[in-house]
Formats: sequence, C-alpha cells, structure tokens
Amino acid sequence: MVSADVAAAVGRVLDEVFQERLDAAASIDARFAQGVAEMVADFTLTGGKRMRSRFLWWGMQACGGPADGASLQAALRLAAGLELIQTCALVHDDVMDGSPVRRGRAAMHMELAAQHGAPATGPGASFGTSAAILIGDLALAWADDVVAATEFSPDLARDVRRLWQAMRSEMVAGQYLDLYGQRTGSRSMSLALQTASLKSGLYSVERPLAFGAALAGADQRTTRALCSAGRCAGLAFQLRDDLLGVFGDPGHTGKPAGDDIKEGKLTYLLAVARARAQATRSRALLRILDTHVGDAGLTEREMERVRGALVASGARDTVEAKIRRLLAQSVRHLDRVALEPAAVAHLRELFCTAAGIPSTAAADIATGSSDAPGDGHRASPLPPFAEASNV
Ligand code: IPE
Ligand code: IPE
Ligand code: MG
Ligand code: MG
Repeated sequence: MVSADVAAAVGRVLDEVFQERLDAAASIDARFAQGVAEMVADFTLTGGKRMRSRFLWWGMQACGGPADGASLQAALRLAAGLELIQTCALVHDDVMDGSPVRRGRAAMHMELAAQHGAPATGPGASFGTSAAILIGDLALAWADDVVAATEFSPDLARDVRRLWQAMRSEMVAGQYLDLYGQRTGSRSMSLALQTASLKSGLYSVERPLAFGAALAGADQRTTRALCSAGRCAGLAFQLRDDLLGVFGDPGHTGKPAGDDIKEGKLTYLLAVARARAQATRSRALLRILDTHVGDAGLTEREMERVRGALVASGARDTVEAKIRRLLAQSVRHLDRVALEPAAVAHLRELFCTAAGIPSTAAADIATGSSDAPGDGHRASPLPPFAEASNV
C-alpha cells in the first residue's frame, strides 16, 4: 500500500531505475560509473525528505486517486523523476552558492574534491565543482529519461509533457534570478518573491500537485484550486527556507546558516529589512545591513549583529506573518473544492511541514487569518509571483 509509506514506494522505483542505469554506465566506463553515476544514485537515495513525491501522491489522492492502474505506476515514476530533478537542483545549487554542506554531509563538490585530493587553489582546484556539474547534469538527464519511458494515456502524456517542460524552465529561471538579484544588488521585494517562487516554490509544491491532479484526471476547477494552494504553500516553503538559512540550526537543517547574508542574496527577508530600516530612517540598522550583507568573510559576531538587525527591523516577524497568511490562504484554496477529506488532511500536514509551522497550529491559522485577502489567488494566467505575493 503506497499511501502507508510514499517515500519507500518511490525509493523502490528509484532502486529499479538506478539498477538499470548503473549497469548501462558500467558498460560505458567503470570510472564514469563509479565517479558520476553512482554518486547520482547515492545522493538521491540518501537523506531527502521526499516532499515533492508526497505532494504529487497526496495531490493525486485528494483528487480521487489514480485514474487507472497505469496511472498509479506512472505517479511513482513521475515522483522518482522529481527526486532526480531535486538532485540536480541541490548539487548545482551548492556549486553556485559555494555551500559546503548539504543533507547533513559534505556537499557533492566538496566530497568529490576530497575524494581525489584536489588542491584548494591552482591547477586541479576546479575538479570538485566541475565533476559536481556533471553529476547534476546526469541527474537531470535521468529525470527526463524516467519520464520519457513512462506510459501515459495520450491526454495525460500531453499534460505531463507541458507541466514537465514548464517546471524545468521555471527552476532554471528562478536560479538565474537568484544570481541576478545578488549580482545587481537589487533590493526589490517583488523580485525577491518572484525568485523564491520560481527557484523552489513551483517545482517543490505547485507542480508536483499539478502532476497529481493530472494523474487523477481532475477537472479544471479542482486543478486550479490545488495549484493555487500549492503556489501559496510553495512560496511559504521558500520563505521558511530563507528564515532557516539565517536563524536555523545547521545540525537540524543539514546545511549552513548565514550563507545568504555572506553572499548578499536577495531574499525577501533582507529586502523587507532594508525597506523597513529605510522607512523608519534607522541609520544604525542600515549601516549594519550595508556593511555586513555581502561580506564573505563575516565573523560570527558580525553575523549576530545582522541577525539582530533582521529582528529589530521587524523583518523576521513580517516574514513569519507572511508565511502564516500564505499557509492560511493555501488551506482556504483546498476548501474551495470537493476533495477527498483523508488526503486533504495529509496535504494540510504537508503544507505545515513545508511552511515550518506545527500542524497543531494550522487549524487556528486557517480559521483565524482575517487579514489575508479573499479568494483572488489563482494559479493562472497571472505570472507566478503575483498571486501569492500579495498575500
Ligand atoms: C531544499 O528542499 C531546497 C529548496 C528548494 C528550498 P528540501 O527541503 O525538500 O530538500 P531535501 O530533498 O529534503 O533534502
Ligand atoms: C536549494 O536549497 C534551493 C534550490 C535548489 C532552488 P538552499 O537552501 O541552498 O536554497 P538557496 O540556495 O538559499 O535558494
Ligand atoms: Mg541558491
Ligand atoms: Mg543554496
């Protein structure tokens, strides 16, 4: 029974995929098999929470379950494809961000560099990052292969292709905007939200739910409600990630804290902090932000000063409040249509996990958020950030 353990069921599909792929890789070249292909398999199978798989599965169940037996198998294969996309995203992201730790262990490029004793500078220094780029590329290619080799009915095949293509491009667009916002020193809150939605909200939450709705053969109204819910929850997910990236415990998150500040990333949190410091003409806060944000050599004391500024400016509370409103809005979108109640309970729980809010608090959030706007947050045809960002 897949519902009892979605992660395990997707893990079994991944095992099958890897078995075949690793055999093929070995027949190409043993060093490639060991140095690249096995690394893709190992990373994918170790440590992920399988959120995207769960969103797909419970989105499909909420819409009445797989339309037929073939759709059930297709759901698990699509979920496996999403986990491979996640491998590509994380491995490349850590190269791009220069992040040394992921999923509680050395990030891929660091592990590779250490494996072959690559020097920190000079010739050979780029071995780890270069090989990690190849590993991310292979994960993306395998993700595409898994989906291409899955059998769908003709209508479903068209929908899956459309969603898959959109999702891949959105993710790349988001990662580009992330670089662009950093490089240009942008302070735009709307760019920060657009980036957050594109670089993670869509591929992590909304698109997996859309796949689930398509696999269940859901009607347009139901699909839209589910996608709108996913859009809000997806943005909440990234806003929580931004907060954890500054205030989180690396022992718990499995990745470093403070990187966004050192790199001068355009997160919504930092954009709000600047806007508020400017609005209140707080020179002290502005000085802290201007001096320390983007300083790669920040000491822990200076980092604490920035954290203090984010709290004192009210930015941390503002982001917390926005996450709660987004969560409330996502739950209300689910309530707009007739869905399977037991599956909706799972989705609510997943939304809470993604938003980093205890599920015990979710009921209050859903009923008590009178400050959230009405029902105008739908998944199309507005650009991604516009619907959720006004919440
Ligand atoms: C982390 O995603 C990256 C973001 C898009 C914010 P997850 O928190 O789902 O990472 P894993 O797969 O469980 O490691
Ligand atoms: C990776 O997780 C996010 C993506 C793959 C889009 P992080 O927690 O490192 O998130 P960023 O790099 O700060 O967006
Ligand atoms: Mg990044
Ligand atoms: Mg990162």
